[in-house]
Amino acid sequence: AVEFSLRPRYLGEYIGQNQVKENLKIYIEAAKMRSEALDHVLLYGPPGLGKTTLANIIANELGVSLRTTSGPAIERPGDLAALLTNLQEGDVLFIDEIHRLHRTVEEVLYPAMEDFALDIMIGKGPSARSMRLDLPPFTLIGATTRAGMLSAPLRDRFGVVSRLELYSIDELSYIVSRNADLLGIEILGDAADEVALRSRGTPRIANRLLKRVRDFAQVRGDGIITPEIASEALKLLQVDPLGLDSIDHKMLRSMITGFRGGPVGLDTIAATIGEESQTIEDVYEPYLLQIGFMQRTPRGRIVTPAAYQHLGLSLPPEQT
Ligand code: ADE
Repeated sequence: AVEFSLRPRYLGEYIGQNQVKENLKIYIEAAKMRSEALDHVLLYGPPGLGKTTLANIIANELGVSLRTTSGPAIERPGDLAALLTNLQEGDVLFIDEIHRLHRTVEEVLYPAMEDFALDIMIGKGPSARSMRLDLPPFTLIGATTRAGMLSAPLRDRFGVVSRLELYSIDELSYIVSRNADLLGIEILGDAADEVALRSRGTPRIANRLLKRVRDFAQVRGDGIITPEIASEALKLLQVDPLGLDSIDHKMLRSMITGFRGGPVGLDTIAATIGEESQTIEDVYEPYLLQIGFMQRTPRGRIVTPAAYQHLGLSLPPEQT
C-alpha cells in the first residue's frame, strides 16, 4: 500500500525525534558489535508519531526480522508462546498497544523478557508440573500511548524507554515535502508549511492531509500543490487553520460556556461532550497543551486566553 511506502526504512531517513534517534543509534550499534539482541525497547507517546515505523526501522537497522502483533490480539498465553517460539535469534517482536495485554499473557512475558524462557504448565490437577523452555534471545518492542498505563513490573523490564514528542512545524513540513516527492507530486514550500500547520504535530495526519490536497491539485489544478490549492483543499477537510477539528472545538467551547473556562476535571469534560476520557487524554489534549490552548492544573483543566481568542470569544469577566 502507498501508506507503507511512505514510511522511512532507516534511521537516516527518519525526520524528527532527534534525541530518541541518537540514543537508539548507539544502542543498535553496540548490540551489533556484541552480536547480541538489542535490549527491550518501550516507545510511548500520542498516536500517529511513528512508533510502528520506528519498530520497523530498528529491525531493519539490526538486520533481523520483525513480527508485529498487538496487546488485544494476544488472547491467551498460548498465543504469545506460539509467537515467541517462532522467533529466530535476535529477532524483534513488536507489540502495539502493549498496555492492553491480558494479565495472564503479561505474566508469560516476564520470564520471556528477563531470562528468554517460557514457563509452561503440563497437565492438570495433582500431576501438573511446570516446564521451562528456552527461547532464542530476542528484542521486545512495546508501544503505548502512555507509559503510565503499563503495570510497573512490565515497565521495569524494558531497558530502553523512549518518549516520542509531537513534531515541530518545520519537521512536519520537511516530512510533507519528502513524502510529496515519494508520491511523485510537486509541492511548493509554503504549501507544505500550510499542511504542516494543520497536522497537529502528527506525521500520520500530515500524510493524510497531503493525500487529500494532492487529489485536489490533480482534479482542480494542474497537479502542482500551490499554497492556494492547499488552503482551498484544507478548507474542505473541516480542520481549522491550527488543525483543530470539531471535537476540539466542542471541548473548548463546552469548557468555556459550561465551566467558565475551568478548572474542570477530565471526566466531567468527557461526560459533557460524550467522548471517552482516555481518548481526550491521548488524542486531543496533547496538541491543545502543546499549542498552549489548555493547561493542566491540580484542580483540573483550564482553557487559556489564546484559545478564547482563536475561537473569537471574549474572556469571562473576573468573578469577585
Ligand atoms: N513519514 C512519517 N513519519 C516520518 C518521519 N518521522 N520521518 C520521515 N518520514 C516520515
